[in-house]
Amino acid sequence: MKIFMITAIVILFAGAAPAHDHRVSPVMREQHNSMLAMDKEWVLCKKSLAADDLAAAGVALDRMEKALRNLERFKPHLRQEGHLDFQKQARNFKAGLTKLAEAVKGKKSVEVPRLIGKIDDGCLKCHEKFR
Ligand code: HEC
Repeated sequence: MKIFMITAIVILFAGAAPAHDHRVSPVMREQHNSMLAMDKEWVLCKKSLAADDLAAAGVALDRMEKALRNLERFKPHLRQEGHLDFQKQARNFKAGLTKLAEAVKGKKSVEVPRLIGKIDDGCLKCHEKFR
């Protein structure tokens, strides 16, 4: 009976504890917004490339680069101790975008599929650890 009472009290208090705080700081909001903007442009970019519309792909890549200008300074909530790796991944990712933008500008379509693959891998790799 005593154990039952103690268990009941513990459960009661655990339930009454304040819920996880879902308020979003301005920094966090900016990160979400730039990721979402970049995600949207990346979809557009790939569609444009598939349709061989290099001009539209170039515009989308430009917008992605703008949306990510602060990527190295992001503070992901996960694994903040791995921040150097985050910055390194961010730099590599942006270098991949620049390479694709150059290939698109130079109309080097043969290189495009491999460069797209590298960028997609970059999304996955960073999310796997930090998202
Ligand atoms: C260098 C790291 C990194 C790279 C590269 C990266 N992301 Fe993210 N992404 C994150 C992090 C961290 C979050 C979580 C943001 C947060 O919660 O503040 C995130 C969140 C997102 C979200 C959800 C929006 C949100 O913030 O809730 C989408 C969509 C997304 N990423 C798409 C992409 C796509 C598409 C790519 C590749 C074209 C990509 N990301 C590349 C780190 C990265």
